[in-house]
Amino acid sequence: MTSTTIAELPWWDLAEVADHDEAIFGPTAWTLGYYWSVKAQNGTVMLAARTASVGDLAGWIVMSGAGAEADVMTIATTEAARGKGIGRDLLQAGIDWAKDRGCEVVHLEVDERNAAALGMYASFGFEEWGRRPDYYPGAAGILMRLRVGD
Ligand SMILES: CC(C)(COP(=O)(O)OP(=O)(O)OC[C@H]1O[C@@H](n2cnc3c(N)ncnc32)[C@H](O)[C@@H]1OP(=O)(O)O)[C@@H](O)C(=O)NCCC(=O)NCCS
Repeated sequence: MTSTTIAELPWWDLAEVADHDEAIFGPTAWTLGYYWSVKAQNGTVMLAARTASVGDLAGWIVMSGAGAEADVMTIATTEAARGKGIGRDLLQAGIDWAKDRGCEVVHLEVDERNAAALGMYASFGFEEWGRRPDYYPGAAGILMRLRVGD
């Protein structure tokens, strides 16, 4: 049984997250400086998943919220941690954060080729409402949203 905890990402872990981010997202990765600037913004939260079995950091999610609208700014699990339900736990924690601050809709954008993420979002009930052609290198961005308000 893997025990995973999800808690706010402290600033001293940002460099580790940025290193993983670069390995996962390549040219579209967030830099460490960008992580810092997002962390300093009002209305954002960074949550990290930690699990003993894969060597501590297992994944993270960054959310922003303003008024009724929230965004999943980024979400990832480390390669060693995939397929264990951690992405699902992180997304649920991000949605719960948005609901707690009174948001009614959660938005996100995903590369049309990203089958794993599309599968996860669809299973939460996210629906496509638009596309941005060539938003990613050689691929469209799919705009999705989920109503979370009562
Ligand atoms: C997308 C991502 C966060 C999923 O994390 P994960 O920890 O592997 O996901 P989980 O184990 O919690 O699985 C959640 C759901 O995702 C979907 N999923 C996960 N891996 C999948 C795959 N290889 N193919 C299709 N669907 C997949 C399934 O719907 C799964 O639910 P199920 O297990 O009940 O079928 C992970 O693949 C990742 O970090 N990818 C690289 C970064 C990225 O693409 N982030 C999203 C940017 S928009």
